[in-house]
Amino acid sequence: MRRATLAAKPPAGQPLPDTHVWLTLSTLFPYLWRYRLRVVLALGCLVGAKVATVAVPMVFKEMIDDLAPAAGMLALPALLLLLYGALRFSTALFTELRELLFARVTQRAVRQVSLEVFNHLHALSLRFHLERQTGGVSRDIERGSRSIASLISYTLYSILPTLIEIGLVLGVLFVKYDAGFVLITALSLAAYIVFTVKLSNWRIDIRRQVNESDSAANTRAIDSLLNYETVKYFNNEAWEAARYDEQMRRWEDAATRSQKTLAYLNLGQQAIIALGVTAMMWRAASGVVDGRMSIGDLVLVNAFLIQLYMPLNFLGIVYREIRQALTDIERMFRLLKEHREIADAPDARDVPAGPLDVEFAAVDFAYETERPILYGVSFRIPPGQTVAVVGQSGGGKSTLARLLFRFYDIGSGSIRIGGHDLRQIRQASLRAAIGIVPQDTVLFNDSIFYNIQYGRPAAGREEVIAAAERAQLSDFIATLPQGFETRVGERGLKLSGGEKQRVAIARALLKDPPILIFDEATSALDSATERAIQTQLEGVASGHTTLIIAHRLSTVMNADQILVMQEGRIIERGAHGELLAADGAYARMWRLQQEEAAASADAGQPPPT
Ligand SMILES: Nc1ncnc2c1ncn2[C@@H]1O[C@H](COP(=O)(O)OP(=O)(O)O)[C@@H](O)[C@H]1O
Ligand SMILES: [Mg+2]
Repeated sequence: MRRATLAAKPPAGQPLPDTHVWLTLSTLFPYLWRYRLRVVLALGCLVGAKVATVAVPMVFKEMIDDLAPAAGMLALPALLLLLYGALRFSTALFTELRELLFARVTQRAVRQVSLEVFNHLHALSLRFHLERQTGGVSRDIERGSRSIASLISYTLYSILPTLIEIGLVLGVLFVKYDAGFVLITALSLAAYIVFTVKLSNWRIDIRRQVNESDSAANTRAIDSLLNYETVKYFNNEAWEAARYDEQMRRWEDAATRSQKTLAYLNLGQQAIIALGVTAMMWRAASGVVDGRMSIGDLVLVNAFLIQLYMPLNFLGIVYREIRQALTDIERMFRLLKEHREIADAPDARDVPAGPLDVEFAAVDFAYETERPILYGVSFRIPPGQTVAVVGQSGGGKSTLARLLFRFYDIGSGSIRIGGHDLRQIRQASLRAAIGIVPQDTVLFNDSIFYNIQYGRPAAGREEVIAAAERAQLSDFIATLPQGFETRVGERGLKLSGGEKQRVAIARALLKDPPILIFDEATSALDSATERAIQTQLEGVASGHTTLIIAHRLSTVMNADQILVMQEGRIIERGAHGELLAADGAYARMWRLQQEEAAASADAGQPPPT
C-alpha cells in the first residue's frame, strides 16, 4: 500500500473538553514524578538556556553601543566578546544537558505505561477481547505510547521554553524601557496565539477529512487486493479502480484544502508579526531620535522580537500535535480503566497439590443474558478418571472448557476443583493446573519448536522433542528442511489443521498438568493418525483427570463416563456399553457414525487431513 503509513496516522480528534485534558495529564504525571530529581534539574536547564538566550542580544547591544562613534575612543570590547561567545554556547549547553537528563525519563514513562496497559489487556476477560478488534487495541497502545513522548517533548521543548522566554523578554522590556513596549509585545503575541489556535482548530477538521478519506481509500485498496481472485473471476478491475479513485478524489480535495489553509495560516501569522515588529521599531526609532535610546537599544528590541517569534512559527503544528497526543493518550488510558470482569478474590488460594477431581454442580451459564447456553449441568470427574462429552455442535461442549478455565463466571451453581470453588482459586494457579488442546488451535508466528515449548517454557530440548514424538509429529517434522526450526506463519497458517492440532497436543503434553482437556483434539486428523494418537492420549489420560470433548464417538468409547449434551443439557450419561444398552440418543449417534464409517470405507474416500 503506497500510503499505508499515512493511513495509519490517526484522524485528528474532536476538541477535547478541558477536564479531559487535565485528567489525562494528571494520570501521566505520576509516571514522570518518579524521577523528580531529573525533572527538576531538567527544568533548571530549561530556565538556564532561556536566560542565556535572552542575555545574548543584551550583550550584543552593549557591544554596539561601545562601538558606536558617539562613545568616542574605539576600543575592542574583549570582555563583552568573550561573554557573548560564552552565552551563545551555554544556550546550546543547557539545551543538550536538559536532553541528556530527560531522555530516560520520557522513554521510561513510555515503557512503563505501555507495559501496564499490556499487562492489563491480558488481565481483561475473553469477552472484552472477543468484542474488540485486536488491531484496534494494539493501535491504541502504539499511538498512545508514541504520543506520551511527543506530548512531553512538545511541552518541554516547545511550549514551556517559549513561555519562559516571553516572560523574560517582557520583564527586561519593562525594567529597561517602559510599559509601552511591554504592551505592544504582549498584544501582538496574544493576537498571534489566538489567531493560530483559531485557525488551527479549523484546520484540524480539514486534516481529519484528509485522514479519513485516506483511510477509506486505503481500506478499499486492501479489500480489493485481498479479493484479487474474485476481481479476476468477475473481470471487474475497472469497477474496482473507479471505486478506489472515487475515494482518492475525496482525498485530493481535502488535501488541497489543507494545503491552502496552511498558506492562510502562515500569511496571517506573518502579518501579525510584521505589524508588531513595525510598531516596536517605530517606538524604538523615535526613542533614538529623541535621544532616550541608543542604537544598541534599537537592535536589542528588534532581536528580542525576531527571537520570540521564531519558535512561535511552529505554534500551529505544536498545538495540533499536542491536542492529538492528548486524545491518543486518553484513549490508551481508557483501556487501563477498562474493568476487569474476572478478578481474583482477596482470599483466593492455590489449587491443592495431588490428584484433583473436577465437579460441575447445577451450572447455569449464558454469554449474553438473553441467551442461556447451559442449563443445570452437573457431573463429576473423579481424580485420574476420564469423562467424555459428546453431542451436536453448538450444544455447549467447548463452553464447559472455557468455564473450567474461568474465562467467564457462571450464572448459578458451582464449579469445583479439588473441592474448591473456582472463584476462590487464584487464576494463575488454576490455569497452571489445566492443560488444553483447544478446538481451534492458533499458533504463534514462530518456529514449531517455540510453539511446542510454549507449553512449558522451561522445558529442555529433549523434552520438547519427546513431546513432539508422542504427538506423532516426528515423521512430519523430519520431512521439513528446517525441521523444528520451521516457522509456522501467522496464526500457524502454514500448517495443515491436523499438524496444528498435533502441535497443540505436544504442547499440552509438555505442560503435563494434573487436569487435561481435549476439545475435539483429533477432529482434523485422518483415521490412521487419530488411532495412533488415541493410544498415546489414552496413556496420558490415565493418571490425569481428563475431560474429552469429541465428535467421533469411537474416540471416547473407553471413557469412564460419557455425557451426551444437547442444547445445553446433559440428556444421557453412562459408560459406552450402558449407553448402547439404553438405546437412546447415544446409541442412535453410534449407529449413524458406524454406517458413515462403513460407507466412506467402501467409497474409498481419502481421509481428512
Ligand atoms: N463468546 C461467545 N459469545 C456468545 N455466544 C457464544 C460465545 N461462544 C460460544 N457461543 C455460543 O454458545 C453456544 C455453545 O458453544 P460451544 O460451547 O462452543 O459449542 P460446542 O458444543 O460446539 O463446543 C453456541 O451456540 C455458540 O454460538
Ligand atoms: Mg466446540
